[in-house]
Amino acid sequence: MIPLAANSPEQAVIDRVGEIADVVTVALDRLLPRADGPEARLTEAMRYAALGPGKRLRPFFAVEAGRMLGVDEQAVLRAACALECVHAYSLVHDDLPAMDNDDVRRGRPTLHIAYDEATAILAGDALQTSAFDIVLDEETHPEADIRCELARRLSLASGARGMAGGQMIDLMGVRDDLGGMARMQRLKTGALFVYAFEIPLIIGRFGEGEWHALSSFANDVGLAYQIVDDVLDAEGSAEEMGKAAGGKDAALGKTNFVTLLGVENARQRVAHLAEQARSHLDMFGEEAELLKASVDFVLQRRS
Ligand code: IPE
Ligand code: IPE
Ligand code: MG
Ligand code: MG
Ligand code: MG
Repeated sequence: MIPLAANSPEQAVIDRVGEIADVVTVALDRLLPRADGPEARLTEAMRYAALGPGKRLRPFFAVEAGRMLGVDEQAVLRAACALECVHAYSLVHDDLPAMDNDDVRRGRPTLHIAYDEATAILAGDALQTSAFDIVLDEETHPEADIRCELARRLSLASGARGMAGGQMIDLMGVRDDLGGMARMQRLKTGALFVYAFEIPLIIGRFGEGEWHALSSFANDVGLAYQIVDDVLDAEGSAEEMGKAAGGKDAALGKTNFVTLLGVENARQRVAHLAEQARSHLDMFGEEAELLKASVDFVLQRRS
């Protein structure tokens, strides 16, 4: 690979994503319950799921958007850790035999393989409640209304009208056209992406203009991210991705963006969404350069 110039926009994104991922992993390690006491099996399993080698993209978006908006980083970081706990729980349950029945996640055995199904269910449950524990703690923000709003929006993004609702639609297969697919994706993946940007918007008490711009950006990137995930499911290597690939969705009879659109059209749609996403950030001027440059980085993932 050609080494990137130290000051290229691409290198700046790689450095920033890595820097934020490290900070988030250290913070999560501190925030999650220690593995001791008679329930140690549960806390150990929670730590296995949350501290594993994830890309920490949602926290990256929260923290980088917070920097762009000039919002207190410590508050954003704690809420971003809460979001990552919900994301980790969603993956643990997504991999269970009753859902996608996957054995490998982040290049390691899935939680129910490394432990057992009951432990995986409980670890998912407890990661979810830990998320609310983290945002509602006074350490997150001195003002109670901000903490409540962070918790309320996280619960909306995770629940029946958010991630969990999207997972239900995915499992039921009620999406035989693009509109249905886009709606499922908006709930399944999009809602937690949007929440990443809501974190600094809530903490900084921003108004409609910033909300509209950043949630439009997040919706476009979230949709493009799931389309790329479906392309990788069809074409990626399981080894590089650290999870199942090789057309697993299609083999299960699942409709996804690639089974509906074909790979070429799916790629074109991703390129169009990336362009559109960047344009939503124009109002933030030069401060938005890194977020804009991160779009291609996030969408060119191989894992
Ligand atoms: C996987 O999310 C689930 C999807 C929404 C496609 P990520 O690709 O962010 O997974 P990790 O956290 O890096 O493992
Ligand atoms: C799941 O989508 C997204 C979640 C809300 C957990 P997928 O089932 O496609 O995610 P992967 O491919 O297993 O990571
Ligand atoms: Mg799934
Ligand atoms: Mg899955
Ligand atoms: Mg997938």
